[in-house]
Amino acid sequence: MSDVVTITREGNVAIVTVDNPPVNAVGQAVRQGLWDAVPELDGDDGVEAVILACAGRTFIAGADIREFDGGAMEPWLPDLVERIHAAKKPWIAALFGTVLGGGLETALGCHYRIAHPATKIGLPEVSLGILPGAGGTQRTPRITGAAAAVKLVTTGAPIGAQEAEKIGLVDRLAEDLAAEALAFARDVAGRDVPRLDPAPAQTDLTPADWDELRTEVEKKARGQISPVRAFDAVRAAFELPLDEGMKLERATFLELKETDQSKALRHAFFAERAVAKPAALKGATPRDLDKIAVIGGGLMGSGIATAALNAGYDVAIVEQSADAATAAQDRVAGNLASAVKRGKLSEAVRDATLARLTTAADFGPVSDADLVIEAVFEETEVKRSVFDRLAAAAPRDAILATNTSYIDPTKFTAQVPNPERIMGLHFFSPAHIMRLVEVVKTPATHPDVLATGFAMAKKMRKVAVLSGICDGFIGNRILGAYGRMAGYLLEDGASAQQIDGAMKAFGMPMGPFEMFDMAGLQIGYANRKREAATRPADQRYSRIPDLIVEQGWTGQKTRQGYYRYEEGSRAALPSPETDALIATERAHLGMTPRSFTDEEIVATLHAVQVNEACKILAEKIAERPLDIDVVKMMGYGYPRWRGGPMQEADARGTDRVLATMQGIAAADPGSWQVSPLLSDLGSAARPFAGLNG
Ligand code: 3HC
Repeated sequence: MSDVVTITREGNVAIVTVDNPPVNAVGQAVRQGLWDAVPELDGDDGVEAVILACAGRTFIAGADIREFDGGAMEPWLPDLVERIHAAKKPWIAALFGTVLGGGLETALGCHYRIAHPATKIGLPEVSLGILPGAGGTQRTPRITGAAAAVKLVTTGAPIGAQEAEKIGLVDRLAEDLAAEALAFARDVAGRDVPRLDPAPAQTDLTPADWDELRTEVEKKARGQISPVRAFDAVRAAFELPLDEGMKLERATFLELKETDQSKALRHAFFAERAVAKPAALKGATPRDLDKIAVIGGGLMGSGIATAALNAGYDVAIVEQSADAATAAQDRVAGNLASAVKRGKLSEAVRDATLARLTTAADFGPVSDADLVIEAVFEETEVKRSVFDRLAAAAPRDAILATNTSYIDPTKFTAQVPNPERIMGLHFFSPAHIMRLVEVVKTPATHPDVLATGFAMAKKMRKVAVLSGICDGFIGNRILGAYGRMAGYLLEDGASAQQIDGAMKAFGMPMGPFEMFDMAGLQIGYANRKREAATRPADQRYSRIPDLIVEQGWTGQKTRQGYYRYEEGSRAALPSPETDALIATERAHLGMTPRSFTDEEIVATLHAVQVNEACKILAEKIAERPLDIDVVKMMGYGYPRWRGGPMQEADARGTDRVLATMQGIAAADPGSWQVSPLLSDLGSAARPFAGLNG
């Protein structure tokens, strides 16, 4: 037997155990072990039933994604699943943990499935840019019918064991999985082995229903191809016999695996895990946290408090007055109430969660906090006064964090004892929903403090990315370059509608001007005033954003910005007034508006982001290109199926990105300089992936 697959016997029942930590991925060695087990057990007269079990924390959680970039290594999973299904003895899969992708497909090859009630079951392949490639699109519909199969396969979202039982994927639930699987195996031992009907699956759906469903899937996929191709494969299960459907599924799987989208999504999967392991955290140990104090209970502070409560911490919010404290408490309660409304939280859990929150109008609750996060107004002096008070009120070893999106944490922490306990935490709003946190390291921050920030983020189900200090940290600094270039394109002749449309077609949830209008134009206005003194003299300055704000138009809130908005609506409509203002400014500058292709807009906005990212890497603000990709995907809506701007640069070719950036810099050298790192990589057409380590 192999190291990863072993066989033991309990009387007439054989137990085949997969032991391939951490998630029992069905890699080549596991496939080979199972492949050999089938004929061995078929030929063993003492065996009348077989249990497929797993050691460790989960049943098989999928194919081994790391193998996708190498050549196929036999035996292939579809053949193995078929071989198990054709076995002479009944195979019973004992499911627990996360039964995903190739794990579920292997279980579907078995003749029965018993699951622990806490099991999560799903076919997440579309989120890796592929489709289930070992029968998932063909066997699932034959078991569950059309609606459930379409949902499982095209969304990739896992379901609970109870629902899986309802739709027929699971035959029985079992609290004591090992014992009940054994009893079940003894029961079916020696009986006829049930086989899946290879005829096309049956459905009441008409061709028009299928077409309508396809349109829905396509709309939700927003440019991602795998859900649509996966849908087509499920539909084929209702039109083709099993073996034909399997061939179609396999061919689609092999085709999709090689697409840039699948490579980008695999990159996203591994990058999201790799960001948790920056070199700066090597050997660091997170500190235990029980109580978190949040200073300031506004939108951001109450969002952070909600996230901390949901993660299980005791939380205190400190506000300036009793009224403000009550308002903060109400905001948190509101956040939790909307989670209840969306079915994410039960009322009982909501009440228990809220019971861990205290609010105060003084710094009292800070005295026994393990971590204090200040989330007061984004103004250096305001934050400095909070830190002055924390220096006296917080325990000397409490970790102190500032939630800021632009301000250098060292500016107001110099006077605090033990500066090694100070870090920045840049949460994204709404903080109880958005998954990204930039953990900002000052030159003095102790690695254990950073590791604590990472551990807290993980408990909050967020993804933390380490950032050094610069204006805007990783994400907003790149956003700055993006927004500035979008402004130049607008002034040069592209319309806000065209620029936003091009970026949405690229996969962004909204374009830059819709985003500015939503965030409120006064924020950028204030930032530009703040930066005026340090702005390079020869950098181009488009006055259009200032002119808009000076009309009193600050975006959605005033129903007028780059677009106009109807009362009570967020739909961005063309604004003749704003367009006239832009035309007047162009005329004032003596400019003849020029036209752009959508691809030119996309390539330009992409290149300036990558160029800024290269500077960030060179300055060691971000450790690796993958850190930048994760920031952009998790915090700014960069399409996952593009894998972030650096992965997109690799897909486009760094040489092409360099050429675009060189063109931009040549046309406007005062505003743009090509980063030496982009120059080095691009001139050798080397990918950013090589810098990920
Ligand atoms: N292949 C290879 N490595 C995998 C893997 C897989 N399918 N799933 C997880 N891993 C690795 C992770 O990269 C991580 O490695 P690291 O420790 O070096 O960073 C380690 O296993 C632990 O994973 P997580 O940190 O994600 O652990 P969690 O406990 O948080 O989550 C999980 C476990 C829910 C199983 C999650 O890892 C997951 O969602 N995995 C992917 C599942 C999946 O997509 N399966 C389908 C694969 S494609 C397929 O099956 C094709 C088939 O149709 C032919």
